[in-house]
Amino acid sequence: MSTSPLESTETALETSSGLDIQSLRADFPILDVRPHGKPLVYLDNAATSQKPRQVIDAIRRYYESENSNVHRGIHYLSQIATDKFDAAREKVQRFVNAAHEHEIIFTSGNTEAINLVANSYGGAFLSEGDEVVLTHMEHHSNIVPWQILRDKMGIVLRIAPVNDDGEIIMEEFEKLLGPKTKIVSVVYVSNALGTINPVKEIVRLAHAADAVVLLDSAQAAPHLRIDVQDLDCDFLSFAPHKMFGPTGIGVLYGKLDLLEKMPPYKGGGDMIKSVTFEKTIYNDLPFKFEAGTPNIAGVVGLGAAVDYLTDIGIEKVATREAELLAYGTQLLESIDGLRIIGQAKEKASVISFIMESAHPHDIGQILDQEGVAIRAGHHCTQPLMQRFGIPATARASLAFYNTEEELDALAVALHKVNEVFG
Ligand SMILES: Cc1ncc(COP(=O)(O)O)c(C=O)c1O
Repeated sequence: MSTSPLESTETALETSSGLDIQSLRADFPILDVRPHGKPLVYLDNAATSQKPRQVIDAIRRYYESENSNVHRGIHYLSQIATDKFDAAREKVQRFVNAAHEHEIIFTSGNTEAINLVANSYGGAFLSEGDEVVLTHMEHHSNIVPWQILRDKMGIVLRIAPVNDDGEIIMEEFEKLLGPKTKIVSVVYVSNALGTINPVKEIVRLAHAADAVVLLDSAQAAPHLRIDVQDLDCDFLSFAPHKMFGPTGIGVLYGKLDLLEKMPPYKGGGDMIKSVTFEKTIYNDLPFKFEAGTPNIAGVVGLGAAVDYLTDIGIEKVATREAELLAYGTQLLESIDGLRIIGQAKEKASVISFIMESAHPHDIGQILDQEGVAIRAGHHCTQPLMQRFGIPATARASLAFYNTEEELDALAVALHKVNEVFG
């Protein structure tokens, strides 16, 4: 009986990052699942990462012994839940190095964070003819909210092009900036290509044009150290479920002076100080933007995810992932008829590719039969796919808990694709 590469090869215990990958893998119970009787090779981390026991336990503990609504009650459980909730905000503040805790707004996800900025800041401070600059590699969640605003207010969207390697053409980006530019909203790390954009330079250029900058950091937070003060960005969003935390919760960072002058985005309980039928006084930050009962368990899980990633060390994670990216890239480049889409010099651990022999969906299906989970499709970046003249890619996205043996298993399965369809 043939064994899979996973079963036949010893995984190195220590990597150049100094991380003990096997013991870290033991934190993730789901990695023991055997799809179709094969060891799970989970390479769909850009869609959502897996969750360590520490996060799962924090959420279970919350529901088992701490559950209550926050900021409302004066009883024992309400105090515990409120303390946990507030502590998580402080953890996130430190995680992104925000100057103030109340610059951290909890939302339902990365998507809602961007919608909040478009609706609240855009709705209040933009007017007809004003321009918002995006790039060709944005996720739909950083395109459609601005289109909705465009259709409502008559603003203009300007799109910075990308080159064949999947990098923003900075000279073209710079040319788009002008007196009408009010917002620059750019993805920090591309989910479809892995490109790490020169966001500090983007912020500098946008500020020189008096525009505010939103950085969609959904794919940056799991891989890179984020320092909002060093970046000097005005807004930054991320998605905890892509960084080992739960779904249903998102983070928006905003500079204090901007958040203070922005109107609320949603109305309801908690976001008010007082209400009469004549007049409502809105609450202070961050509550002004957090109407209704928040996703408390999600926030608790987010706090645990931040602790988990911080304890491992994001620099070690980045080193390990760079090692995996180099290994996987070399391996895939050796496969007949396979072309990697996105060859930026600065890249996070995403390998998007197409094959001459098969459509990405067929690749995904064959791989699934081998226990290998990747994503096939447009990755919510249809304009980017159009830019490359392709309908879709197959995408392997790596986390620190992946191994070289798993990438070997991916390569073996891709050879099988060529055998079946070639
Ligand atoms: C770059 C980027 N932006 C935004 C999003 C949207 O995040 P969510 O669907 O978690 O709100 C994603 C999700 O894949 C993403 O990769």
